[in-house]
Amino acid sequence: MHERILIVDFGSQYTQLIARRVREHQVFSEVVPPHKALEASKAEGLKGIILSGGPGSAYEKGAPTLPPEILQHGVPVLGICYGMQWMCEVLGGSVIPGTSREYGFTPLKVDAASKLFDGVATDTVVWMSHGDRVEKLPDGFLNLAHSADCPEGAIGDVDRDYYAVQFHPEVGHTQEGERMLRNFLKGICGCSGDWTPGDLATELIERVREQVGEEGEIVLGLSGGVDSSVVGALCQRAIGNRCHAIFVDNGLLRAGERELVEKAFEDHFELDLTVIDAEKRFLDKLAGVTDPETKRKVIGHEFVEIFREQAKRFKNATFLGQGTLYPDVIESVAAHGGATEVIKSHHNVGGLPDDLDMDLVEPLRLLFKDEVRELGRILGLPEEMVARQPFPGPGLAVRCVGDCTPHRINLLREADRVVREEFEARDEHHGVWQYFAVLTGARSVGVMGDKRTYEEACAIRAVQSNDGMTADWVYPSRECLQAISNRIINNSHGINRVVLDITSKPPGTIEWE
Ligand code: XMP
Repeated sequence: MHERILIVDFGSQYTQLIARRVREHQVFSEVVPPHKALEASKAEGLKGIILSGGPGSAYEKGAPTLPPEILQHGVPVLGICYGMQWMCEVLGGSVIPGTSREYGFTPLKVDAASKLFDGVATDTVVWMSHGDRVEKLPDGFLNLAHSADCPEGAIGDVDRDYYAVQFHPEVGHTQEGERMLRNFLKGICGCSGDWTPGDLATELIERVREQVGEEGEIVLGLSGGVDSSVVGALCQRAIGNRCHAIFVDNGLLRAGERELVEKAFEDHFELDLTVIDAEKRFLDKLAGVTDPETKRKVIGHEFVEIFREQAKRFKNATFLGQGTLYPDVIESVAAHGGATEVIKSHHNVGGLPDDLDMDLVEPLRLLFKDEVRELGRILGLPEEMVARQPFPGPGLAVRCVGDCTPHRINLLREADRVVREEFEARDEHHGVWQYFAVLTGARSVGVMGDKRTYEEACAIRAVQSNDGMTADWVYPSRECLQAISNRIINNSHGINRVVLDITSKPPGTIEWE
């Protein structure tokens, strides 16, 4: 039995980020929707409750709510944004639409000493995202901090250990958010940090075992990337050779990918591996498809068809294993059934057919990439597998703007090989999240050997990121850029210009499609 923090999800985009921050302090947390919160709060080990933000307005009819008894457990409570406003409404304060809204970086002044702000500078910067604000504090509450437009930036009832903040301490942009959450978890809730990443591995293995049962078999879509490899390692430990790994060579892989996966698999797994040659099948289906979302869906469907075909080879393979991560989920589906915008249909989430007759096994669905890497290390996967740069499921297709003809995919594959080799030869890839080539579809005039050319432009894309949800562009050295440009243009018949992509995410995305 571990110490436990209950996180109530009022529908914020950042709820899983709260869970992740709690995990970083080695504290076990459980995320529940409001209607399950009271029941969940009664289980053993409860040390504190965090109420997430959300898109609602606490004073509106029909806004998400909780039974107020949830506040009666005698454990500390931290309300964040909407969570703060809900607490105020329910405890006798009031919330109104703010006269000015606050979004993004906001200076915050700490007004009173409290356990929540222990060690936090008086002047700090936080991440705000709200329109409403608290007008009247409930009895027993004090103002702890304010911003220019929000007098109640943070409040607390120190006797009852109720704290609430209008900003988002879970978001990396809140300068001292990490310290504030540590103060809440360790200083206020008294959590000792008894939940390790090793416990997470054990728990995930146990969950796979439970889901699949005594007889079930998993067909695992293995891409060779860290995510599906970690799922493979978890499944191997959970159900041994009842997990069957399928690696699909869809003709959209990087140079050397297939050989690398086969070798790594042979060296580090005891699962059976089937390699499917499906280049023609995928490229035929993609012929003439230029719309990015259609490409993703075509590819996703084709993958699933292959997995379904493969499943027929086994007696009880009614489960499909995938390395889906949380950022794939949040960008692919309207989270919480709300109006969250679909940015891209990540192939393993948004590309699934409605009539999928297999149950999904996605043990990493609530985790972030760096957590998965850590898990991979704990499970004993080799560093070259764990530290690999991410490669999207739809492969080179989403870096080949326009028609994915075999010729264009080959051009891109060679250009990508050059980018990787030149970064790695100079050790410029360390700390870089991804570095690759994009075939842009733009054509321009050039002159080579006194002849006019009219060929494609290739972009170099290199970004720094912690979780793929936000990213900044990387500036490679002049030597590196020069070598890439020379090699690509000299050796490829079809590219006569190389450019550097200097767009962060947001407003761009990492992949071009
Ligand atoms: P974007 O382009 O959305 O990418 O900024 C964020 C991260 O996700 C990877 N990515 C994918 N991974 N299936 C995946 O498994 C996909 O369909 C997919 N699309 C993008 C991308 O490489 C980056 O690391």
